[in-house]
Amino acid sequence: MRTKDEIIGFTKSLRVLIVEDTAVDRRLLESMLSESSGVTSFLRSADSFKKAIVLLEKHNFEVVVLDLNLPDSQGIETLYALREKYPDVAVVVNTGAYEDDLGIQTLSSGAQDFLVKGKYNAYFLNKVLHYALERKRVEKVLENAYAQLKETQDQLIQSEKFKVVGTLATGVAHEVKNPLATILYGITFLSEHLKNKDEKTVTVLTTVKDAVNHANKVIVNLLDLSSGTYLKKAKQNLHESIDKAVSLTRYQLEQKHISLHKEFELDIPNLEIDSTKIEQVIINLILNAGHSMADGGMLTIRTESSILSDDFKKYPRLFTSSIIKRGQKIVLLEIEDNGCGILKEKIKNIFDPFFTSRRATGGVGLGLSVSKNIIDLHNGEIFMENISPQGAKAVIILPIE
Ligand SMILES: Nc1ncnc2c1ncn2[C@@H]1O[C@H](COP(=O)(O)OP(=O)(O)OP(=O)(O)O)[C@@H](O)[C@H]1O
Ligand SMILES: [Mg+2]
Repeated sequence: MRTKDEIIGFTKSLRVLIVEDTAVDRRLLESMLSESSGVTSFLRSADSFKKAIVLLEKHNFEVVVLDLNLPDSQGIETLYALREKYPDVAVVVNTGAYEDDLGIQTLSSGAQDFLVKGKYNAYFLNKVLHYALERKRVEKVLENAYAQLKETQDQLIQSEKFKVVGTLATGVAHEVKNPLATILYGITFLSEHLKNKDEKTVTVLTTVKDAVNHANKVIVNLLDLSSGTYLKKAKQNLHESIDKAVSLTRYQLEQKHISLHKEFELDIPNLEIDSTKIEQVIINLILNAGHSMADGGMLTIRTESSILSDDFKKYPRLFTSSIIKRGQKIVLLEIEDNGCGILKEKIKNIFDPFFTSRRATGGVGLGLSVSKNIIDLHNGEIFMENISPQGAKAVIILPIE
């Protein structure tokens, strides 16, 4: 025969924290939820917000029954403070007898349900806690689905942008490339055959040469972006690509007295990559790091292999990736600097074609878009984040096939 609890489906014992400063109310809840009743498998109580936080830091709770008016925190702010610190815990607010409106308000402020003091019994309380837990679970599923949808939408927008840039680029770049080469040749010829080498003439020629070189860089990068659908893949050790990229950028790093630290995981699995293109990405990232650092910074290049499992806490954003799936074996490459960091309001734009904060010093704003295009073609992920106390980190995740 089935027990009453099984019939209504309350087969799970919950881990519950009661936060209530009125002794009578707290004891009533404790007796209804006592571990011996089978409703809870772990029950703790706190009579202030501060004590609740101490318990939440120490133990893993599923549901918090929360009185909003505590000695050290009052009103809806109590709920906000709890939600901000512990977004994964389900919250059931315990409101006063005539506070139905407040109860409804808590639902739109992040609580999963509310109780009205004096108007519930043990059975009703049990039901509400289970309902709150289930609602929290569904909310999390929805949040993940939304984040995934948003990322897919962003990728679509980005790939549309690439298509437009690509079509334009191939047309314009081919037309402009040859005249630019002629101009560059002409300037070099003039510099060498100039009879009157006065300072002003030399300055003018140097300025023209710099401008042509800049235009040439734009064209080369644009062609890279638009021809980026083809990869020449082969099994390759990522460390070799990194070492090559480092040797090609050594001069720039030395000039700025930037020291390089390598933290390579030994025996990292070989990857199926287009090594020339991956080197190009690493060069772009090293140069960006170099530009962000004033004289005498530190550049760290790190590699690590892992699996994107539930235990992978390092980059939670990967859990909503539409490219890297759970269970996928991955290699992580981090390129970290202690430079100026990225302006918070600009971080979402840095992968946009032509976004640059270095226009005055020759930046075109295509380094990261080209890099992202290449990593996308490898079915990988690339992103950047600021690090503490100072600097930025580029992260690349490549799948091990
Ligand atoms: N390591 C970093 N630290 C701080 N800001 C960075 C870093 N890497 C990139 N950025 C920001 O992102 C912008 C875009 O980078 P991106 O490589 O696409 O273009 P760029 O370096 O400005 O020009 P280029 O086309 O010559 O590479 C940079 O101008 C800079 O503002
Ligand atoms: Mg760059």
